[in-house]
Amino acid sequence: MQAVHHDVIVIGGGLAGLRAAVELADSGINSAVVSRVHPLRSHSVAAEGGINAALGNAEESASDSPEIHAYDTVKGSDYLADQDAVEILVREGIDRVYEMEHWGTPFSRTDDGRIAQRAFGGGTYHRTCYSADKTGHALLTTLYERSIKEGVVVYEEHLVVRLVLKNGRTAGVVALDLLRGKLVGIGARALVFAGGGFGRTYRHTTNAHINTGLGTAVPYWAGVPLKDMEFVQFHPTSLPGTSILITEGVRGEGGILRNASGERFMSRYVKMQPPDLAPRDIVTRSMMTEIEEGRGFNGPWGPYLNLDVTHLPKRIIEERLGGIRELSQSFADIDPERKPIPVIPAQHYSMGGISTDNNGATPVPGVFAAGESACVSVHGANRLGGNSLLETLVFGRRAGISAASYVKKNDIPFDDALVEQEVSAFGDYVQGLFSREGGKKIFDLESELQAIMEEGVGIFRNRDGLSNALERLKDLRKRVWNTGVSVHALRYNLEFVRAMDLRAMTDLAIAGTKGALLRNESRGAHFRRDFRERNDEEWMKHTVATFTPEGPLISYDPVRVTKFEPTRRVY
Ligand code: FUM
Repeated sequence: MQAVHHDVIVIGGGLAGLRAAVELADSGINSAVVSRVHPLRSHSVAAEGGINAALGNAEESASDSPEIHAYDTVKGSDYLADQDAVEILVREGIDRVYEMEHWGTPFSRTDDGRIAQRAFGGGTYHRTCYSADKTGHALLTTLYERSIKEGVVVYEEHLVVRLVLKNGRTAGVVALDLLRGKLVGIGARALVFAGGGFGRTYRHTTNAHINTGLGTAVPYWAGVPLKDMEFVQFHPTSLPGTSILITEGVRGEGGILRNASGERFMSRYVKMQPPDLAPRDIVTRSMMTEIEEGRGFNGPWGPYLNLDVTHLPKRIIEERLGGIRELSQSFADIDPERKPIPVIPAQHYSMGGISTDNNGATPVPGVFAAGESACVSVHGANRLGGNSLLETLVFGRRAGISAASYVKKNDIPFDDALVEQEVSAFGDYVQGLFSREGGKKIFDLESELQAIMEEGVGIFRNRDGLSNALERLKDLRKRVWNTGVSVHALRYNLEFVRAMDLRAMTDLAIAGTKGALLRNESRGAHFRRDFRERNDEEWMKHTVATFTPEGPLISYDPVRVTKFEPTRRVY
């Protein structure tokens, strides 16, 4: 079979991947996107509340500036973000938002026609630009149209399963063409991994079923290090039972969190106004404390709290929160105009990921990454809502630029024979899977993984829980890697896909749990009940995990501080 090749392959068709691809096409580089789903089905489409940029458009935010946005982001990160990266995010972010406006994103508007901005957690000012409560959808459709205009080639419904290296440099990937049921080799001088997060390692998550982290594990297995995997964000408000996201924009528009006595409990935990808009790590812990201390409601899906918008004008709910109203009606049988929305925290975002520099480059020549699958790090230990859409555009573009410049400087010949050899080796691996038992077992193992993570590596952590989780994960790993696949054809073989996903999820979970066990402090979303304080002297450093078959090797990298000296994080 004739191998195909491109100078650069982008893995992932969400916002970060498409933004990189548009940049590559614009630079005249022969590139393509390889995505396990059609780009418009990428998880970016599910982003609701908005994208931050210090435009100063809202009446309340005329004094906003990139410096204040940077400060909020660094403080929100509990001082783990690299501050030079944050400065890039907030400055270039303004151009990226206007660029999306000029490319056609239908942002909600102020009365005088400028991009409207709402309040979001941890922001000094109203800084979150939005398209009602479907901002990800609006941005993704715009960027997809732009990618068509730029002639971006997409291999959709192709699952990347292996990275091919030659002499330590990128040579291509092996992918499964799901529609045709064939393994294919695609040669490439550079790769940009932008496959999103790995929220499916938890049972309760706002993430789609595709968010398994396979696009993070493939480079990890090939020697690309991961960073800060112990930092997992739980979003305060999801619907009980389904874990469907109820945007922070609801609180940005004036929604109030209440316990079973009707009390606005957040004012007992923070002094800021409004208290419901504290950063996510703080709101989540406060909610779980309310529940643990018996002030929650009991429902068919377990305990929950209320998010109340019944006091808001109907016009606000209809114009700005129409999607949330529809979701609450369809999935909780509640009309938020009349009754509070039941909510419970759920896993939402992976702060950690493929370790990159500010240009998306990893230590492996020709391997780049961007978006949620990467860790630059701009979010540190806790991301502010609205900063992730911004990151996809700013660092997706940067990764595209640096991959383009890398291939221009490194005119390495394609090695089709090597790529084909790897396809054939992976084919042998698949035959091995077919010879072992799979079936329901795979899905049982996935549930076991999710239970371990939820019990031991959740919102509140401690040494015993983490070490127990790590031991269980190691035992689980043996069974996962020994599991086979019972359906012996590759065309839309979702059992095979899940078997690969499960391998990825287990190894990423082990890397995060090991990092969490070693980190004897509390910082951002990593809260240790046995080490309740942040400890800058010992722990103001990034955790780096390098794959070995025996388990991750852990090392540490310094945090880059520019302007903001760490101080106590008080809201
Ligand atoms: O609540 C939300 O709309 C989520 C936003 C984000 O994660 O940035």
